[in-house]
Amino acid sequence: MLKIKHTAKKGYGLFATEPIGCCDFIMSFFGKEMPYDQAPPVALQVGLKTALLPDLQCQLRFLNHSCEPNCAVGVKEKEFYIYAIRSIEEGEELTINYNTSEFNLIDCDCNFECNCGSHSCIKYIKGYSHLNIDQQKAIIHICLPYLREK
Ligand SMILES: C[S@@+](CC[C@H](N)C(=O)[O-])C[C@H]1O[C@@H](n2cnc3c(N)ncnc32)[C@H](O)[C@@H]1O
Ligand SMILES: [Zn+2]
Repeated sequence: MLKIKHTAKKGYGLFATEPIGCCDFIMSFFGKEMPYDQAPPVALQVGLKTALLPDLQCQLRFLNHSCEPNCAVGVKEKEFYIYAIRSIEEGEELTINYNTSEFNLIDCDCNFECNCGSHSCIKYIKGYSHLNIDQQKAIIHICLPYLREK
């Protein structure tokens, strides 16, 4: 269903090997929870002080950011997973918006210049706390619960 491939400007990325329907469950983030301040950049922030470090075998380590993503992170009974937020064609790269999970990427020196190439690209990805109110409102429906509750 998924394949890891090199991209032109973002290192490796994760690609669909078959069409995926809107809202389909794609894969769980399997790994271990750890304190955010000890987590490496590949970890997914899941709470203000908590991150989830995907196992080495977990392909979601290669999920890149897009300012117009086709996937989002969901959570059910403490299990984090990704699902499609629109239909995805075979061969398309799977992406999420990192600002829907990461609060402050400047803190850990993990901010980066965005090469997503979308029309609405915001150019620098620094985390949810660096977005203006309109940018926060535009993504709040796909943000992780700890950000929606803020
Ligand atoms: C979880 S890794 C994703 C996999 C990564 N591309 C790799 O080859 O290991 C996150 C890192 O990928 C890069 N990245 C992800 N999305 C990007 C984007 N839209 N533009 C530029 N770099 C991106 C950044 O360096 C980011 O810190
Ligand atoms: Zn972008």
